[in-house]
Amino acid sequence: MLISSPLNAALNAQVGHEFSASLQYLEIATYFAREGWAKLAAHFYRQSDEERDHALRLVKYVTETGGELVIPMIPAPQHEFASVEEAVRLSLEWEQTVTQQFNRLMDIAISEKDYLAQGFLGWFVREQLEEVSGMEGLLKLVQHAGEKNLVYVETLIGKGKPDQE
Ligand code: FEO
Repeated sequence: MLISSPLNAALNAQVGHEFSASLQYLEIATYFAREGWAKLAAHFYRQSDEERDHALRLVKYVTETGGELVIPMIPAPQHEFASVEEAVRLSLEWEQTVTQQFNRLMDIAISEKDYLAQGFLGWFVREQLEEVSGMEGLLKLVQHAGEKNLVYVETLIGKGKPDQE
């Protein structure tokens, strides 16, 4: 067994957070689709898939290290949004929270001198740079455009921007 009980429990909780993010981004994708923003919708469908991939990475690590996966209850994601900006702002806040969660997981791995876990978690810590900066970039773009000119955001996302595309 290569994983401690506290880290196993904390990683199980993070599996729940990643699935929550996946479901939240799915809700946001379908909100954008309903509003007629097809490229923004496609972008958030991809974000949703990425979050599921993150959850699976954690699941496999817990299993391979001899831990026990217990998936926690996933709360219902937010369904109603007042604007595209609100939905993107929620996504940015989500990514900032996830960054703190991985920092805390790394704290546990460091305090336990678990070098294997530190190496594993390093990928997520680095990934959060892209996740947060990409969402910040998208929020700025949406704010610059304003709700009436979101077609420009659609054009930029179609051209491979913002940079997390
Ligand atoms: Fe799994 Fe977007 O962080």
